[in-house]
Amino acid sequence: MCGIVGYIGQRDAFPIIINGLKRLEYRGYDSAGLALFDQELIYKKTKGKVADLEQLFKSVEDKKGQIGLGHTRWATHGEPNDINAHPHVSNSGNLVIVHNGIIENYEPIKQTLLNRGYQFNSDTDTEVLVNLIEDVMQKEQVGLGKAVQIALNEVVGAYAIVVFNRQKPDEIVMARLGSPLAIGIGKDEYFIASDATPFIEFTKNAMYLEDEQMAIIKKGKEPDIRNIKDDRKIVPYIQELQMSLDQIEKGGYEHFMLKEIYEQPDVIRDTMRGRVLPEQNLIKLSGIDNHLNKFLNADRMIMIGAGTSWHAGLVGEYLFEELARIPVEVEYSSEFRYRNPIIKENDIVIPISQSGETADTLAAIKLAKQKNAFIYAICNVVGSSIPRESDSGTYTHAGPEIGVASTKAFTTQVMVMAMMALKLAKEKGTISMSEYNMYLSELASMPEKIEKTLQTDLYIQQVAHHYKDATNALYLGRGFNFPVALEGALKLKEISYIHAEGYPAAEMKHGPIALIDENMPVFVIATKKGQYEKVISNIQEIKSRKGKIIAIVTEGDEQVKNLADHVIEIPETVEAFTPLLATIPLQLLSYYIAVYRGCNVDQPRNLAKSVTVE
Ligand code: M6R
Repeated sequence: MCGIVGYIGQRDAFPIIINGLKRLEYRGYDSAGLALFDQELIYKKTKGKVADLEQLFKSVEDKKGQIGLGHTRWATHGEPNDINAHPHVSNSGNLVIVHNGIIENYEPIKQTLLNRGYQFNSDTDTEVLVNLIEDVMQKEQVGLGKAVQIALNEVVGAYAIVVFNRQKPDEIVMARLGSPLAIGIGKDEYFIASDATPFIEFTKNAMYLEDEQMAIIKKGKEPDIRNIKDDRKIVPYIQELQMSLDQIEKGGYEHFMLKEIYEQPDVIRDTMRGRVLPEQNLIKLSGIDNHLNKFLNADRMIMIGAGTSWHAGLVGEYLFEELARIPVEVEYSSEFRYRNPIIKENDIVIPISQSGETADTLAAIKLAKQKNAFIYAICNVVGSSIPRESDSGTYTHAGPEIGVASTKAFTTQVMVMAMMALKLAKEKGTISMSEYNMYLSELASMPEKIEKTLQTDLYIQQVAHHYKDATNALYLGRGFNFPVALEGALKLKEISYIHAEGYPAAEMKHGPIALIDENMPVFVIATKKGQYEKVISNIQEIKSRKGKIIAIVTEGDEQVKNLADHVIEIPETVEAFTPLLATIPLQLLSYYIAVYRGCNVDQPRNLAKSVTVE
């Protein structure tokens, strides 16, 4: 969480940093701050959004400087207010820092510094860190880079930090452990950011710091990259970014979330491109091809993830078990990492993550690696920490997802697992060739079917308007659609703040049925394939308790239409691929309900897109 932007070069730093922070606001948006140096250090910070911060920089004088750094915060230590906002400045006024992460042992360090006469204005761990660095500089008589290194060897926790010294404004020092940092390399200039989006229009050349690495960057010089622990020099690996500017803009949509919902047909095509080849009866996934024996001999797969990615893992469980007959367990990474999970030689651990930076998932991978597991990542952000920590994997190619509510990330994750399961089913002979061909051509037809599903948009707006004032909602599904119910409920609660629960439909009578009355909307996935008749019985049970039924049904369905208050049709498909379609109306419903309630759809309260703290 928290977004960081820094710049050093020949241009005015202010517009680069402020625009960069706007792009990183998805990472946290409870307060923001920015520091620049020209003849003197100017820094301003405020509770609120980056737009509020921008207002504080009024005069041309305020905006001067070719070195600077900025921060958009998701509070961990200290409430979101002006004082706790970053940047933080050391007691001498020389050092200025921004930080993403948590310094766990900040209290004893703070106490030592207090005893040495330091004073603190904020409640943050970051202010402690910048003063620790200053203290090291003074005690050891070393420069900023060395002091950062010594200080970081004293701290426990996670960090991405960027810091400069107003007395030596030709260098910026940065370091990373657990929170991402990218460096954009221009001609005689450097851009620093939590991801590459703030500098995409300036340079395509970027490098990413690895954990336990730091960099000292000076105008016109090669970055000096070192291992924090042992000072070993690291040769930078510079890569070419594939991202384009229009991918990270709204493109005429009112919100990123709506844009991303509508991108699904195209990004699903991208996920399949060069991989799903029906004319050759082939699914090509180099990650699997390179480790085919591992997959063929797998006794078990363990999916780990958080939030929506965990829901995708649940769909994966149904897919791998049904098609490839491989037993699957699905775990929250936050639970997995603190258990002592039993991992055997022939197990494959599959982390699933949009951002590739989720702290719990990263920690779970590290634990699995210690236990010698083979790690196969399903991830969206190319070059992010999770794929880098994994042995192999498949990128989802969903493109940047900026809305905090995950949409296209989910469907592309499911698509990757559908491809994997089908490929393995063929290799293992767990389905017949004719079944394989049928599934393959069905998979290839998904983008068109998603396009058709999106045509329900206008009707969904009406339905959403009807239920916009609900205070609770229930989502029910069975089999492959049980995780879809969970995902529908998560989407509604996180952006509209309506309390919502997802349940396997048959579980309703073991408790949740007590909640049903005429005010309770119940969203039921009641598609023809799967346990259709059983779901109809569940619908009857809701109806006899006067609950309001909104059903997602297969095109042309008449039976549910007669029972439900509203029906939303999706194209027919095999049960295994229904989640790819049934999820879409639930995304749209949540989106429109949140819009009608006046909620901030792309930046819901208390949330951040990328959860880089545990
Ligand atoms: O980047 P990741 O996929 O690892 O993120 C996992 C969750 O934080 C994420 O899915 C979260 O639950 C979303 N806000 C859901 O819409």
